[in-house]
Amino acid sequence: ATVTVQPERAKEISELLLGAFFEDINYSADGGLYAELIQNRDFEYDPSDREGDKNWNSTHSWALKGEKAGFTIDTADPIHPNNPHYAVLNVEQPGAALVNAGFDGIALNIGEKYDFSMFARVPQGKSNKLKIRLVDGEGKVCGETSLSVSSRQWKTYKAVITAKVTADTHLEIIPQSAGELNLDMVSLFPQDTFKGRKNGLRKDLAQTIADIHPRFIRFPGGCVAHGDGLKNIYQWKNTVGPLEARKAQRNLWGYHQSMGLGYFEYFQFCEDIGAEPLPVLAAGVPCQNSACHGNLGGGQQGGIPMSEMGAYIQDILDLIEWANGDAKKTKWGKVRAEAGHPKPFNLKYIGIGNEDLITDIFKERFTMIFNAIKEKYPEMIVVGTVGPFNEGTDYVEGWKLADKLGVPMVDEHYYQSPGWFLHNQDFYDKYDRSKKTKVYLGEYATHIPGRKANIETALTEALYLASLERNGDVVHMTSYAPLLAKERHTQWNPDLIYFNNREVKPTTGYYVQKLYGQNAGSEYLPSKIVLDNKDDKVRKRFASSIVRDSASGDVIVKLVNLLPVEVNTNVDLSGIGAVQPSAKRTVLTGKPTDTPLPVEDRIQIAEKFDCNLPAYSFTVIRIQKA
Ligand code: AHR
Repeated sequence: ATVTVQPERAKEISELLLGAFFEDINYSADGGLYAELIQNRDFEYDPSDREGDKNWNSTHSWALKGEKAGFTIDTADPIHPNNPHYAVLNVEQPGAALVNAGFDGIALNIGEKYDFSMFARVPQGKSNKLKIRLVDGEGKVCGETSLSVSSRQWKTYKAVITAKVTADTHLEIIPQSAGELNLDMVSLFPQDTFKGRKNGLRKDLAQTIADIHPRFIRFPGGCVAHGDGLKNIYQWKNTVGPLEARKAQRNLWGYHQSMGLGYFEYFQFCEDIGAEPLPVLAAGVPCQNSACHGNLGGGQQGGIPMSEMGAYIQDILDLIEWANGDAKKTKWGKVRAEAGHPKPFNLKYIGIGNEDLITDIFKERFTMIFNAIKEKYPEMIVVGTVGPFNEGTDYVEGWKLADKLGVPMVDEHYYQSPGWFLHNQDFYDKYDRSKKTKVYLGEYATHIPGRKANIETALTEALYLASLERNGDVVHMTSYAPLLAKERHTQWNPDLIYFNNREVKPTTGYYVQKLYGQNAGSEYLPSKIVLDNKDDKVRKRFASSIVRDSASGDVIVKLVNLLPVEVNTNVDLSGIGAVQPSAKRTVLTGKPTDTPLPVEDRIQIAEKFDCNLPAYSFTVIRIQKA
């Protein structure tokens, strides 16, 4: 093959092209990215979180070990009305322990420090010393501390536990005297969170996401954003402020959201990794029946009643004030400042709606929200939705509405087969460039029914991403979905990054995202590809994308070969200016049965140079200017 760059046809492309989409699906938040180690710390698990599971209630993950003590749940005089349930331990004779199982256990690492905290009170005023232990399956104490509870009123108690060994453990709280003890918000965090944040994120997982170098993060969904009924719509105000005052909620993926990972933490994570925040809020309608895969239960036609839309729109405007408002002069800016962030978060993008059915109910509410944001915050870039791509009426209607209102950007979703992606690499080449509306490809992934993601799906995504770079003048942002999945708790497959309590297992597709994220450009340099074999099927399995990063001046050549044979390629870079003779090359290649890792080396290059592309491979060559 020959690939000849045509620098005279260069065009600017979006600098936000590659981002990440975080949704609390597959235990991505509690038990996942959120570093809290205690499951159901607030005793707010509710039978409605998971229909048909008789163990799913306030005592979930908790148990009493030993005798002469009782463990019940009460709601009288709670720590906060949003957090009504708490544990009551009645100790007749010391010895028994209240045990928490964690999320599949509590993984300790030798020498690491863990922050233990809880709200507690002794209603009878009789002080009680507690031993707090982390115990492994054999009963060995792997870390411990103690503290005394003496307050009749709710009070926070804190201690630090150092792990004596690396072990999988559970928590035991062991009162040393008889009497009644009330407990709530029982929490254990590693001190070593991502960037050392309190109430922070699991370091290895957060770093794996950061390594993609996502230019934005969309959150909190997906279906989680609009919920599967009016009561299940994600309300950002319930997710900020003191943890004990946040309002937990059923997660429509069949579990519980503690909201410990809430809007403050999402914005902070974005800031920590230099990504633009892209919060998505419901367009006044919940996930409507089939748009939400039909089987999630609770599906509900209809939107927020018109009598309540004013308040709902105000909540959205308040979010913008919370993110960007002055810390002293605005009500919501003050709330942000009190939470520890006086400086504005500089929110520029706000998503309204997620993969909705584009009904009259939707259109009416979306229009109201869109107009209200435009009026109060004309600089805000509203990202609308055009429903799932299915060539059906929603997609068409969604686009009609976007055109009519002049929505600056719309969110498109498609989960498709490798064949679909191969045959649709011209999807945005055909885009009507006279339109004002840009595209956010907010959810996409290559799916092979019944099979895991592999090099074939990953290279299909690499091919498609080449077409997205080529169309980076209209496609402003993209994000693979879903991002995270905890092993044994997965509702959706495939996902980009699998994990358990100790390991992070990125898929081959992850490395494609990372290579694109780390080698993004701001200028697209078109190239002419000539293949020896002129068959269209062959042509569709080979792609190149050449971009220049204006910050470094580097030119990046990406070459994708989804053919079962090696392709000798001559790259002609004439006209791009003088370059360094040695360049970094990264190659991701393997058989469909492998889970390969990218391999880096350095190669000699010239204005024209040869490069052998292995069968089934993705090659990235990063060239520095001379
Ligand atoms: O990414 C998983 C789900 O797919 C999202 O929640 C939803 O938007 C889409 O249907």
